Amino acid sequence: MAILKIARMGHPVLLQRAAVVEDPRDPEIRRLVADMAETMLDAQGLGLAAPQVHVPLRIFVWRNGDSVAALINPELELLGPPDQRGWEGCLSIPGLRGNVERAHRVAFRGTDIGGDSVEGEAEGMLARVMQHEYDHLDGVLYPSRMTDHALFGFTEELTRAAAAQHAPPPAPPPAMQEATR
Ligand code: NI
Repeated sequence: MAILKIARMGHPVLLQRAAVVEDPRDPEIRRLVADMAETMLDAQGLGLAAPQVHVPLRIFVWRNGDSVAALINPELELLGPPDQRGWEGCLSIPGLRGNVERAHRVAFRGTDIGGDSVEGEAEGMLARVMQHEYDHLDGVLYPSRMTDHALFGFTEELTRAAAAQHAPPPAPPPAMQEATR
């Protein structure tokens, strides 16, 4: 296992469409997923997509309770309009946060780390994480999903501004702050 270098916004690998994984059972893929999991946990992220570690393949991982789940060649279907506002960060855009509208609920399918087909539904925070990570596989970063750029800034400044207004900080649950950071 190894901690991988994370690509930051501006690197072309984050703007390309990632390729389908031909053989999800390939030991190299298994190793990559293990390294992605370790990298995500080390960086205190909620999710991480392979292009973020300079590997343009259709794979992402996310925190699933105390463990890490992975989806290879994922397909995502939004079960409703993207009308849920929430704060997101991204490990490829460190220090910033933005408010993004996402669907509350999604259906997903793909291949798990064991090479088996999986499918299911997710809602709320997990649905948001999946939409964010899936976007990475199509070269889309969250700022381009934003509709109100007044709700975009450095986490430090947003937190300070919120405190000054005696309002709760513009933050999702603690995990998410670092999370899709
Ligand atoms: Ni991200």
